[in-house]
Amino acid sequence: MAQTNGCRGQSRWTLEGKTALVTGGTKGLGHAVVEELAELGAIVHTCARNEADLDECLREWKMKGFKVTGSICDASSRREREMLMDKVSALFNGKLNILINNVGTSIRKPTVEYTAEDFSVLMATNFESAYHLSQLAHPLLKASGAGNIILMSSIAGLVSLNTGNSIYAATKGAMNQLAKNLACEWARDNIRTNSVAPWFIRTPLVEPYLSDEKFLEEIKCRTPMERTGEPDEQPVRHLDDFLAHKSLSMLLFGELGAIVHTCARNEAELNECLREWKTKCFKVTGSVCDASSRAEREKLMKQVSSLFNGKLNILINNVGTNYTTKPTVEYMAEDLSFLMSTNFESAYHLSQLAHPLLKASGAGNIILVSSVCGVLSTNLGTIYAATKGAMNQLAKNLACEWARDNIRINSVAPWFITTPLTEPYLSDEKFLEEVKCRTPMERPGEPKEVSSLVAFLCMPAASYITGQTICVDGGFTVNGFFFRRT
Ligand SMILES: NC(=O)c1ccc[n+]([C@@H]2O[C@H](COP(=O)([O-])OP(=O)(O)OC[C@H]3O[C@@H](n4cnc5c(N)ncnc54)[C@H](OP(=O)(O)O)[C@@H]3O)[C@@H](O)[C@H]2O)c1
Repeated sequence: MAQTNGCRGQSRWTLEGKTALVTGGTKGLGHAVVEELAELGAIVHTCARNEADLDECLREWKMKGFKVTGSICDASSRREREMLMDKVSALFNGKLNILINNVGTSIRKPTVEYTAEDFSVLMATNFESAYHLSQLAHPLLKASGAGNIILMSSIAGLVSLNTGNSIYAATKGAMNQLAKNLACEWARDNIRTNSVAPWFIRTPLVEPYLSDEKFLEEIKCRTPMERTGEPDEQPVRHLDDFLAHKSLSMLLFGELGAIVHTCARNEAELNECLREWKTKCFKVTGSVCDASSRAEREKLMKQVSSLFNGKLNILINNVGTNYTTKPTVEYMAEDLSFLMSTNFESAYHLSQLAHPLLKASGAGNIILVSSVCGVLSTNLGTIYAATKGAMNQLAKNLACEWARDNIRINSVAPWFITTPLTEPYLSDEKFLEEVKCRTPMERPGEPKEVSSLVAFLCMPAASYITGQTICVDGGFTVNGFFFRRT
């Protein structure tokens, strides 16, 4: 976790004084989330049905110095949810920063054997509780000025699993969709909503599955990392060397204590950055390098290898350009080869070159800085979009191929972020208005809003996340047809 010292700026990696409600906090993922938020300085309220378990947890948390209170509440009951939120409102003076809808359960049967009662228990516990608690929390989250909802979903809500859980899966699918809808509807209230979808994580809920050795073997066999996760690995729980261009990625790594090497083509700008970072006490060195040149990439990686004694923990493939946006029929062969070599080939080749160094580090990480243009169609150039689509797919392939080498690979896909690359677009007022109009948060992003995700993904806290493409987009990619009514 980021520490502060005389040289570092104010850390954004804290929840000091923020208020949080975590449902189902006495076991499994909810328990891990309560501890993570409390460690980060949040004041947490949690609930569970078993009073003895809750009291035991509260005693432990008190001993650890965490600010946690708790209520007995069955989150599947409408009345009890209302009582819970009344209590939370009184405790936190009508303001809540964080709602973690974590409660969930499963009943395992073939679909034709589920009864109406099974259906209503699962719906009420997993989905209705999250929906209704979000409704009840809305005024409190809005009043806080910076609200956050996390819906604890599951991989079962994304793909079909042979675990005899069709109702459970549907409730999780409903949560994933709810995250998209609330993200658009409540963005104006400064409430962000996200869904976290874990794969098998070792908790009491999944013990019946994991204690079956054959089943566990099947899971390991299908998981590139060849293991199940641990409760403290899921990403609600938060947060050592690399390469980048100055705009996006550099802002956070220095602050978190990494020893960073970066590159750019313009020597004067590079030297100016290095001077600034020195005054901030960051350990950053730099090389002049054109990442679109194969020979220069090889030279760069040799330099990195000798700087870091043949070991590299983090490679950020951030270089990319979109110098020209034309109709597809007008692109020349030179455009194709320039954009491909700058955006994609540089990332591909640097990843190849870095592989032995990342493997030697024992805990390697690659981030591909992609774009939402690689996720859906925009009119910002088909070559640029294809290079970014290639990066998103590369993240998946390398994640599977290099998991055994303890290297995680993820793709970060920003929407419009205020950097020199996007200046020509965003300085056009009409264009900017279009961007705002289609973005639930009604603004472009800031570089720090990307660099914090990049840093998080490289941290041990993200140790079970690999092969993902995560959009940093103010809700842009989930906005199907959510238009402004006023
Ligand atoms: N573990 C995994 O592999 C995995 C994977 C994907 C998604 N998830 C999701 O993650 C969430 C947490 O799962 P978990 O594995 O941590 O479960 P868990 O180990 O069974 O823990 C559940 C927690 O929630 C509480 N709880 C359960 N039902 C409740 C209710 N009706 N009202 C209030 N509290 C209730 C439990 O305490 P009491 O029993 O005392 O109420 C306990 O503290 C669930 O939504 C689950 O679907 C888990």
